[in-house]
Amino acid sequence: MALAEPWTPSSWRSLPALQQPGWPDAAAVDEVRERLRQLPPLVFAGEARALQRALGEAAEGRAFLLQAGDCAESFRQVSAIVIRERLKVLLQMSAVLTYGATLPVVKVGRIAGQFTKPRSAPTELVDGVELPSFRGHAVHSDEATPEARVADPERMVQAYYQAVSTLNLLRAFTKGGFADLTQVHTWNQEFVASSLEGRRYEVIANEIGRALRFMQAIGIDLGDERAIHEVDVWTSHEALLLDYEEPLVRKDSTTGDWYACSAHFLWVGERTRQLGGAHLEFLSGLHNPVGAKVGPTMTPDELVALAERLNPDRLPGRLTLITRLGASRVQELLPPLLRAVREAEIPVVWVCDPMHANGFVTSSGHKTRRLDDILREIEGFFAAHREVGTWPGGVHLEITGEDVTECLGGSEAVLEEQLDTRYESLCDPRLNARQSLDLAFRVAELMRG
Ligand code: PEP
Ligand code: CO
Repeated sequence: MALAEPWTPSSWRSLPALQQPGWPDAAAVDEVRERLRQLPPLVFAGEARALQRALGEAAEGRAFLLQAGDCAESFRQVSAIVIRERLKVLLQMSAVLTYGATLPVVKVGRIAGQFTKPRSAPTELVDGVELPSFRGHAVHSDEATPEARVADPERMVQAYYQAVSTLNLLRAFTKGGFADLTQVHTWNQEFVASSLEGRRYEVIANEIGRALRFMQAIGIDLGDERAIHEVDVWTSHEALLLDYEEPLVRKDSTTGDWYACSAHFLWVGERTRQLGGAHLEFLSGLHNPVGAKVGPTMTPDELVALAERLNPDRLPGRLTLITRLGASRVQELLPPLLRAVREAEIPVVWVCDPMHANGFVTSSGHKTRRLDDILREIEGFFAAHREVGTWPGGVHLEITGEDVTECLGGSEAVLEEQLDTRYESLCDPRLNARQSLDLAFRVAELMRG
């Protein structure tokens, strides 16, 4: 059987691969894959190992994962400003969580490579016209014409370069002074600062400033403290498009192990996590930390088999299970899953994705989510962990730094009739910066218990 064969970056090819684009020209795909194979890695094995160590802390209850960013990144949104605003809100949320829960926060963006989307249906209706569903900018354009929706392998090369430029700027921002803790006030954007959450954030920012001055006053030399001046923001995306991922797998020269070099962390989505499927096979041989989405149809036995497949050596930080069960069902469905994985003695980071099982379509045709449902799923997630005695290790969110109107609710509530005002997501609705900060305060409260 194929599974008994040794793992290689291409061993997934003998198994069914769901959600792959129908490329019109196989030779053109081969040619692009060869070009990608020649290009330098985006991330290094040593970085993936550092992230795995940080996630190991979250698996063992000593850290918390904040994984957040776009549902689908856009080739049109790679300006410095857009990337800076995305980073600002991540840094703000992280400051609130770190300060509120006094625990390290592992920061992972859905960024610099989140260019493909799985879809529930092969076609979608756009303004009354039936078109092939949008599968992400790494596959085709989002324009609403049949020609634009033809899969074009050249776009995988473009995705690579878009990821390179995003990651380059991210590295500059996080290591070059912008993320310095003494800048904590400047992360509060104008449209956020005036809100309830923005003012609450200012209080924390002032306290962090005081704590830094206090340390200086007693003679601690802050100049040398890397942790004050730089942050690690790791990259992640769904490992969906295997023709893109495979050529970016590289053998680490120091250990001889295989690493995906398209991002630090890859996850398998709810629609492609079949035990006998290509995506699980692909992730199983990588040495990066990896994740899997866990939806409401998952059974405890199947989850243990998945965890065994992705973390047979039982390494803390290797596997993150991202549950997305729905606000109304999380407290019923999660405890048996938590118990089963614990009984199998497989260390995992348990993470709550409160976005993907709480969506609905309004009568005006907008895909949306309510902040209240999102918060309710997070509360249920914490309650289930309290009940079972496991560690709620993090949250996985779709957010943006912009003042968009895609999700409903919040202290300055986005109302249903306002969704049209600024709805920009290419795929799922994202929390805007105010809603994201609001959520961070709620999570910090839950972490304090
Ligand atoms: C996503 O994370 O954007 C996504 C499609 O999630 P899921 O696989 O959980 O549906
Ligand atoms: Co999404």
